[in-house]
Amino acid sequence: MYSKEIGSGNVLVASGTAEANFIALMINLEKNDEVVYMTPNYLQLKHLSKSFGIKLKELPLNRELGWQWNIDDLKKIVTGKTKMIIICNPNNPTGSIMSDDVMNEVVKVAELNDSWILSDEVYRGSELRGIERRSFAGLTEKVIVNGGLSKAYSLPGLRLGWSIGAKEYFQNAWSFHDYTTISVSYLSDWVASKVLEPRRRKAILKRTKYYLEKNAELVLKWSQEVSKLKIDALQATAMTFAKINASISSDNFVYDLRDKFGVLLTVGSWHGLEGYVRIGYGGDYNYIRKVLNRVSTFLEKI
Ligand SMILES: Cc1ncc(COP(=O)(O)O)c(C=O)c1O
Repeated sequence: MYSKEIGSGNVLVASGTAEANFIALMINLEKNDEVVYMTPNYLQLKHLSKSFGIKLKELPLNRELGWQWNIDDLKKIVTGKTKMIIICNPNNPTGSIMSDDVMNEVVKVAELNDSWILSDEVYRGSELRGIERRSFAGLTEKVIVNGGLSKAYSLPGLRLGWSIGAKEYFQNAWSFHDYTTISVSYLSDWVASKVLEPRRRKAILKRTKYYLEKNAELVLKWSQEVSKLKIDALQATAMTFAKINASISSDNFVYDLRDKFGVLLTVGSWHGLEGYVRIGYGGDYNYIRKVLNRVSTFLEKI
């Protein structure tokens, strides 16, 4: 799944990616430490950082660049004070995948400033059109990559995740794990070991991509018929971050749609960017089709 250099001494199995993220933060950061954090993003690491008194410098993804980081901005924001660069790739909520060029620059900038890279890659395996994106694992010494079975493997109930990275980190992480959940459930561990056997893993991801591609086509076709939401090219995650093309805030949009049409999206400003709503398209094809029709009716009324 990763590079050949990564063996069992570089892995910690955790109760979901969420626990792997928690441990990575607790082990490496202290109050008043500074981190550079990708925005928009999943909220766990942002709010944990805030509650531990860690200083967060947000670096937004740029929509004009296809939801990539602007490299000049990256070079300016990461300094000798940056203890960690926190990434979500493929990204929740934009569904974008970091380009090779940006990845290479992140590695260079992290090495130059002696910063850790923490890359949450729980959506790896959900890329459309057959690709499986390069991971940050092994690209530099101070890197932690977290992943799990909740997304592309469709097994959230197993609560099975992992951390991959430098041996230096894992000695501490293994000890700290004794104070969080001690170990994962034996049954989940056993099922996960079967799921991740190379042939079975490939078959599961192929199935995931088959459904996602069908749904992605549906969403893109639908988006051509609506003018009040702008949807960009879909790349991964079964989510898209749609730009609202109407004078309504993202929270009013989401609450009205929920209350009047029973459809739940998430609010752009919660993810760190106003003017957007996150649409998940990972469900059953016919269900998504009906839901999109309801959204169309809502859009006609605003
Ligand atoms: C980016 C990201 N990281 C981590 C998690 C938590 O994943 P897990 O169920 O593996 O703990 C989620 C869940 O939505 C997520 O979107």
